[in-house]
Amino acid sequence: MSILSLDNVSYFYDGTKKNVLENISYDFDPGLIYAVVGRSGAGKTTLLSLLSGLTNPKKGSILWNEKDINKLNKYTYRSQYIGVIFQSFNLLPNLTAVENVILSMDISGKKFNNKKQHALELLGKVGLSEDEAHRRVLKLSGGQQQRVAIARALSYDPEIILADEPTGNLDLETQDDILDIFSKLAKEENKCIVLVTHSPQVSERADKIYELIPLKGTRPKSDQQSNEKIG
Ligand SMILES: Nc1ncnc2c1ncn2[C@@H]1O[C@H](COP(=O)(O)OP(=O)(O)OP(=O)(O)O)[C@@H](O)[C@H]1O
Ligand SMILES: [Mg+2]
Repeated sequence: MSILSLDNVSYFYDGTKKNVLENISYDFDPGLIYAVVGRSGAGKTTLLSLLSGLTNPKKGSILWNEKDINKLNKYTYRSQYIGVIFQSFNLLPNLTAVENVILSMDISGKKFNNKKQHALELLGKVGLSEDEAHRRVLKLSGGQQQRVAIARALSYDPEIILADEPTGNLDLETQDDILDIFSKLAKEENKCIVLVTHSPQVSERADKIYELIPLKGTRPKSDQQSNEKIG
């Protein structure tokens, strides 16, 4: 059974004439890494914001364990079941890396034995030194901030990780380290990992690839957007 699905989803931004997504049906299973690829503007970030419950489909639904997420408590869904890594990180710049991670643990409402220790371990796992972990985020490099965003998404141990270009600012070697982390999470902890990416190296390591094709026509249109699995 899929842990997360898009069931015949269409979406357009209010005030625009064009569908961004049209009749998309994708399934995401535990233990696998998915790459969502497509040209700039194809709708990848939009798709991720639908999966994360930040945006509602205009048609169709998002299913979590076969339940429409609109019928779940959205707050619980977002603070516990999924971990999201945004294209623009969304970290609090004046807090340290550790504080950013602890904050999301607090928001989740889950119980932890030693929050600070857990946060430091996670930051170590994604390659931050203890000194960097205690530095305010605004004093970290782009790549380091990206790692903090990943550690934060992992902090409350969600079943699903949704990430928008999680390796966009990293050199190839660091990108590989981060992909190893995602791989471990999928294979050893049975997490479902959904990565939006432009990087051929990232899609190469995915178990499945979904490609979004930018739509040209105006609404309404009944043709189905190409949403073939190519991997
Ligand atoms: N708030 C908005 N209002 C109107 N149109 C929007 C809005 N956000 C995005 N769009 C449009 O929707 C389309 C899909 O945008 P989206 O951000 O999902 O693309 P993307 O595939 O993530 O692109 P990129 O690879 O550049 O990040 C684009 O044509 C974009 O201009
Ligand atoms: Mg995007």
